[in-house]
Amino acid sequence: MIKSIPHKQYAEIKALVPAVISYIRDRLGIVTREQQQSELEKILVKACEKFQVTPKAYLAMLMSSTKQSPLLEHLVSAVTVGETYFFRDKRQMQLLQQTLLPNLIQSKRQQNNLSLRIWSAGCASGEEIYTIAMLLAELLPDIEHWTLQLLGTDINETALKKAIAGVYTEWSMRSIAAHWQKKYFIQQDKHYYLQEHIRRAVTFNYLNLTESVYPSMLNGTNAQDLILCRNVLIYFDQVHIAEVMKKFSAALLTNAWLILGASDPVVIQHTPFIFHQEMGLVFSRGELPLPKLALQKDSVPLATRPAVSLPPRTRIKADKNATLVLLEQLVTAENWQAVLPLITEQGTELPVTLQAKYKAMALANMGKLTEALVLLTDTLALEPTNRDCHFLSALVLLELGDTKAAEFALRKTLFIDHQYVFAHYQLGLLLVRNKQWAQGLKSLHNALAITRQHESDLEVPGAKSMTYGSLVDTLTHEIDLYQSLGKKEDTHENAYK
Ligand SMILES: C[S@@+](CC[C@H](N)C(=O)[O-])C[C@H]1O[C@@H](n2cnc3c(N)ncnc32)[C@H](O)[C@@H]1O
Repeated sequence: MIKSIPHKQYAEIKALVPAVISYIRDRLGIVTREQQQSELEKILVKACEKFQVTPKAYLAMLMSSTKQSPLLEHLVSAVTVGETYFFRDKRQMQLLQQTLLPNLIQSKRQQNNLSLRIWSAGCASGEEIYTIAMLLAELLPDIEHWTLQLLGTDINETALKKAIAGVYTEWSMRSIAAHWQKKYFIQQDKHYYLQEHIRRAVTFNYLNLTESVYPSMLNGTNAQDLILCRNVLIYFDQVHIAEVMKKFSAALLTNAWLILGASDPVVIQHTPFIFHQEMGLVFSRGELPLPKLALQKDSVPLATRPAVSLPPRTRIKADKNATLVLLEQLVTAENWQAVLPLITEQGTELPVTLQAKYKAMALANMGKLTEALVLLTDTLALEPTNRDCHFLSALVLLELGDTKAAEFALRKTLFIDHQYVFAHYQLGLLLVRNKQWAQGLKSLHNALAITRQHESDLEVPGAKSMTYGSLVDTLTHEIDLYQSLGKKEDTHENAYK
């Protein structure tokens, strides 16, 4: 039985509130407003009771906790607001259904590129991204020919588990029209089970938006056609919002969209975003030539896209090392448009496989997946044991939805380098998502064991700004998610029968 904390400790709790507030801001980017402070006090009382610790001990444990600690999990769940529902914000939903998605689809058809990548950042329990999946199911009569990468990410693990399970209550259904409900859910008592094909269309990952782990092919956050980040930035301070907006702009393809919630704050200085005021909080990255969405009189072009150009040639010594340094800088800065001309004009002296690796990364991040794959395949014909090219091929194949070939490429990568942590990680995710729980969890545990062999504050090579410590945290989250999901899956599957 949980014992209440002694009354005299209430004063101690009050005293630790400022430290917890700054911890929440630094770690999660979330600002605690003055009127929320008494709420926070209650949360801390509950936490001390739950974990049976004194306020002082609680603070010490919190400060030294990893992301996976029950203490932090409890705090994250308590301070994040997971409020969400299907078809939230009718106006934006109409815009998506009638204008934005049809135009994206049309332009993809014109490019002969039947793929779409859509990311719900701060997805809570998944209603938003599943709404998109339903809209696409309606808008794409030839859906089986499309490669759809629909991604939901959040820091709240409890919410993510609910999202992966796809089982909802009346509360999530309050804004959904009856025909959508009938078509895409199976109702049993008071629960609504998402149809399996919609549930399977979306991938969910743990991701803290205030950390620098995105955009990256490693977590599928790159080359997006559309990002929805609604009702999340409202909790962040200006500094974190500005950083997140910059990263979103790097995560989007050139002609792509970002949608924020109607009350979200906007910080778009120093980003390529154009604000379409007439449409609610919708931004495009680049001026899109879509007739219905052309800027109107009351639109405010707050920023224009900086021209992507190479530094003047006279400033670069045309030697191999200088080019390589510049190339690596461009890759780190995600300046993909500048990578290709640099290699073509000044990088021909570099080893062919290195050229191919960076070119393929640029092509994939610009959404040219097939071109990237052809280049990697050609390169591997010349150098069949190139680990990086096998691994990149696996990522591209995953994005193309060819999981069999991706698995093969990952196994080849591991055959060449069994210590390559990201190959274990991707293989693990691929397998658990394919319900091969035991094998998948084994691969994730392999990745975790390798990661733990390194100093936690060292950066992981090839993953920008990711430390081994933060990779341990992410992996532990994923393992926890899929372990509990694997256990539940049987019961869940039965519910569909
Ligand atoms: C109000 S919900 C929004 C859900 C959905 N986007 C919608 O509009 O219906 C806000 C979500 O943001 C998530 N969140 C808060 N801080 C975050 C962070 N630093 N990184 C990722 N997600 C975060 C919370 O966990 C919560 O699930």
